[in-house]
Amino acid sequence: AKGKVSLWDSDEPVPRAELLKGVAGAHGLLCLLSDKIDTEVLDAAGPNLKVISTLSVGFDHMAMDEIKKRGVRVGYTPDVLTDATAELTVALLLATARRLPEGVVEVINGGWSTWKPLWLCGYGLSGSTVGVIGLGRIGMAIARRLKPFGVKKLLYSGRTAKSNAAEVEGEYVPLDTLVSESDFVVVSCALTPDTQGLCNKDFFCKMKNTAVFINTSRGAVVNQEDLYQALSSGQIACAGLDVTTPEPLPTDHPLLTLKNCVVLPHIGSATYSTRGIMAELSANNLLAGLQGTDMPSELKF
Ligand code: NDP
Ligand code: DGY
Repeated sequence: AKGKVSLWDSDEPVPRAELLKGVAGAHGLLCLLSDKIDTEVLDAAGPNLKVISTLSVGFDHMAMDEIKKRGVRVGYTPDVLTDATAELTVALLLATARRLPEGVVEVINGGWSTWKPLWLCGYGLSGSTVGVIGLGRIGMAIARRLKPFGVKKLLYSGRTAKSNAAEVEGEYVPLDTLVSESDFVVVSCALTPDTQGLCNKDFFCKMKNTAVFINTSRGAVVNQEDLYQALSSGQIACAGLDVTTPEPLPTDHPLLTLKNCVVLPHIGSATYSTRGIMAELSANNLLAGLQGTDMPSELKF
């Protein structure tokens, strides 16, 4: 059967008013992680709505309880972005720990006077303990990539121990142990009510003064005021964030005044090929949802 497609043909997000208007009566909705899919959107769509397909693996932007209540199916994009996101996480970790952005600025602004023994020194992975919070698809891919750098111990925490952790010699430990023993703390868990604000004052106080903090999950897992305090007081060494609250982070945000904080604009999955595959998968999820057939990647909730 032929249908009508209403397309927001821009790389910019659809304005909320346009979304509310455009979704009225729709059977399917393809959205981005920047579109908040809440009761208002679901009400605006009305009872025709059968499927929501998000161009993301994260689904914290969607009111899952409401969606479930209405019997709407959800498609998402796991696996296809795992490698790109893990790669970006490693890049961010190294850039943060070895102070690459600072170094680049020094070269440009003339701060590079000569070779100096202690200038721009940072922290290396060799012989280190790495802690991964949330050893899921991406967490595991990060661990696999970090191990060959000479990581001595790989700790992980989460709700359950993982059977595939043996592959990276991962040790399942309580969060407190991970936080206090790790030289690198990498956050790759989903944002849920349990993980919201997980990285707070208490958390940063337990970290080593020489430890590096990396977050490529969601900004809201971190209490940013507490992170600012930890970074500016020397409680922890440095932080690399691919995700923040809000996004974009305002250019006058205190975190951006710190040399020991590297902030990226949520580019974890941003390779041309990955975004192309994500687009295809989300379109196929949408079509399957509309046709009432098996989706290539349906979120079971
Ligand atoms: P998975 O579902 O495979 O992994 C999520 C992990 O989070 C699971 O291992 C889960 O552990 C863990 N987790 C859940 N609750 C807790 C908790 N209370 N404490 C600690 N860990 C917890 O998802 P992916 O690896 O595919 O993706 C993870 C997240 O990464 C996404 O939800 C998204 O937010 C983010 N992401 C960011 C990107 C970026 O551009 N920066 C790109 C892609 C994803 P358990 O199984 O034990 O519950
Ligand atoms: C996701 O998929 O959840 C990322 O944040 C963007 O790829």
